[in-house]
Amino acid sequence: MQQNERVNFGSKLGAILAAAGSAVGLGNVWRFPYEAGNHGGAAFICIYLGCVFLFGLPIMISEFIIGRRSKASTGEAYQALAPHTPWRWVGYLGVLTGFLILGYYAVVAGWTLEYVLQAVIGGFDGKDSETFIRMFSEFSQHPFRPLLWLFVFVLTTHFVIVKGVKEGIERSSKVLMPLLFVLVVALAVCSVLLPGAEKGVEFLLKPDFSQVTADVFLGAMGQAFFSMSLGMGCLSTYASYFGKDTRLGATAMSVGLIDTLVAILAGLIIFPAAFSVGIQPDAGPSLIFITLPNVFQQAFSGFPLLGNVCALLFYVLLAMAALTSTISLHEVPTAFLHEKFGFTRGKAARLVTLGILVVGTVSSLALGDWGEVTLFGMNIFDFLDFFTAKIMLPLGGMMASVFVGWIIDKQVVRAEVTNDGRLKAPYYPVFLFILRYLAPVGILVIFLNELGCF
Ligand code: PHE
Repeated sequence: MQQNERVNFGSKLGAILAAAGSAVGLGNVWRFPYEAGNHGGAAFICIYLGCVFLFGLPIMISEFIIGRRSKASTGEAYQALAPHTPWRWVGYLGVLTGFLILGYYAVVAGWTLEYVLQAVIGGFDGKDSETFIRMFSEFSQHPFRPLLWLFVFVLTTHFVIVKGVKEGIERSSKVLMPLLFVLVVALAVCSVLLPGAEKGVEFLLKPDFSQVTADVFLGAMGQAFFSMSLGMGCLSTYASYFGKDTRLGATAMSVGLIDTLVAILAGLIIFPAAFSVGIQPDAGPSLIFITLPNVFQQAFSGFPLLGNVCALLFYVLLAMAALTSTISLHEVPTAFLHEKFGFTRGKAARLVTLGILVVGTVSSLALGDWGEVTLFGMNIFDFLDFFTAKIMLPLGGMMASVFVGWIIDKQVVRAEVTNDGRLKAPYYPVFLFILRYLAPVGILVIFLNELGCF
């Protein structure tokens, strides 16, 4: 580890925006709506919010503590804080999880670029919902086209990573995040004003708890971890670049609120739009790729140009949100290889990029020609999504909470949340209680419940 030479984000705002850039991504705009749609809408969202506040925020602060205190990427952080103990494996597991997530996340990120292109060349013009469904399945199952976009996306990520923490990560987040927020709000307003949109708003806001099963809990918990970038040390790696004035509690609160707000706004874009054109909310991962072009076509049927501009804005926004997240995912294994094996940042990044291209290619082909290859009844793409989001992230989050709650010296924990006594942290006792008991037991109960143990 090169502690003394370690770079920092240039400002507190830079730190918040970089962490928010990691959190806000396809998880909010692509995954949240289809998970909510598959699990009944508003009831799922209530449970999701519970997971964000009960598990998400305390675990985010824990990851910040682990990162800033150790001044190391996640792969080395546990080792630095609890040397010569098996805890280092939690760090290594985080690195592996990040790598696997990126392997299918980058595929979807690539799809957004195809849809940007279609919006530019007028590829959505005059099509109806049936055609959009066909268009998406033909594209996603095509042997080369999605691969091409995957490569473009991964190489763009690589380029930013090689530029480094301040120039690359911080600068891109500072421009992209505010822009994204403005676009999401504008599109949500457009969508809610569509004819017949009320049913979508109702689906999103009126809970029906009679449909809630163990699956809904696991789905909501996995989504909370995925969306907040928790459980694999991504935010702890970013926190290792935080300055000593960064306020951990306030930063976690800001990131959590921004992330949740963008997810709800994405729901307000997708569901009113879907109901307005009669598309089912449980259409799955293809939801935003089928619903939205259709909506933009129908909503502006008299003005095709306007429809294309809206579609273009939306997919550009999605690509930007995905990019700030793929950067954060890539940073975890890159920083690990750099620190653990002393590779230059460039070499570490090249190795990671190569690996991602291989996993990405496999998961992209899994949606087409290699669809018969299954693990636990799922194709490789779905398996990676299920295994990382619903198993590895909650498990990693549980470990982080036990680590900070029980293992690290409490004076260190207090010093971190109060910036060495310069801040008040009235939430400290509740925070500690959640880390020690509520989060680990809660996560365990959700796992056992899913396995049908009670
Ligand atoms: N939070 C990101 C999103 O919502 C995905 C992500 C998961 C990023 C885990 C980093 C770590 O899109």
